[in-house]
Amino acid sequence: ELEDKISVADSLEILEKTRIELFGKKGAMTAEFKKLKDVPGPEKKAFAEGLNRNKANLQKLYDEKYSELKAKKIEELLKAETIDVSLYSNLEAKGALHPVMATMDKIIDYFVALNFSVEDGPKVEDDFHNFEALNLPKNHPAREMQDTFFCRDGGVLRTHTSPVQIRKMLETKPPIRMIAPGAVFRKDYDITHTPMFHQVEGLVVQKKGEVNFANLKSILSDFLHYMFGEVEVRFRPSFFPFTEPSAEVDISCIFCEAKGCRICSHTGWLEVLGCGIVDPNVFKAVEYENVSGYAFGLGVERFAMLLHKIPDLRMLFEGDRRLLEQFR
Ligand code: PHE
Repeated sequence: ELEDKISVADSLEILEKTRIELFGKKGAMTAEFKKLKDVPGPEKKAFAEGLNRNKANLQKLYDEKYSELKAKKIEELLKAETIDVSLYSNLEAKGALHPVMATMDKIIDYFVALNFSVEDGPKVEDDFHNFEALNLPKNHPAREMQDTFFCRDGGVLRTHTSPVQIRKMLETKPPIRMIAPGAVFRKDYDITHTPMFHQVEGLVVQKKGEVNFANLKSILSDFLHYMFGEVEVRFRPSFFPFTEPSAEVDISCIFCEAKGCRICSHTGWLEVLGCGIVDPNVFKAVEYENVSGYAFGLGVERFAMLLHKIPDLRMLFEGDRRLLEQFR
């Protein structure tokens, strides 16, 4: 009877009931085994063998049925939980790299391909790394309150990524070939300035005489063509405390094809980079001897604005999805 019950069971629940009827504490099999003690001596052995054989058969029958029903159940579950990936759904808006970060990545890619290492430094700097070692003496106007955020403990929020070059030079011996991308801070707020923005600074240091202004000019011209395509590039004499000679680099205005417009202040040129040959005083501050080098620095937001023709720098930081969605 119980054999039949096992073979007709069509669900795990029914099979489980049968199992309890059979092998449970009050089950049929258990009851049979209890009879064993009343069986007279000579028949005991045969009786016990018969019971064991029956038990083994039923157990086998049960195990087979169990596997069969279990497999069936998994099959059913899989069918019930199938996900139709072709179903239409209103997806949440997809994210994308912020245009400033995308521009930063594009800049970094160029220099990494030319074997520059990518270096990092703290955003809260000290006077030595941010100013002093960069030949910005105590009375230099760039230190004035209107430019620099000072911390109460005497630290400064770095006003450029140039302190990273000082850290790198103090940490290693030349040759150096590095860029330092990152956030910088200045007290400024108008259509072309925000109190936080990003720079990429570059530094190359080699044995004296191994690098010169021509190398600097060549790499930056090539870089600007990589970023902006067919533009004119011009180097204009300028001043930075940490480079001598120094230059600012302009590209021909990409908005008016150098005819003169509001964005290029009717000059036909857009300023995009600062650069120069590293001032000997900087090498003195880090105790480097018999070396020469060049350095350059640029503002990433400015590059992003020019590349994407964004009229107001502040738009980059407002998180307005109407702007951001255009960069997906
Ligand atoms: N650190 C300069 C700035 O923030 C940029 C610069 C870097 C200029 C390296 C020349 C050389 O304005």
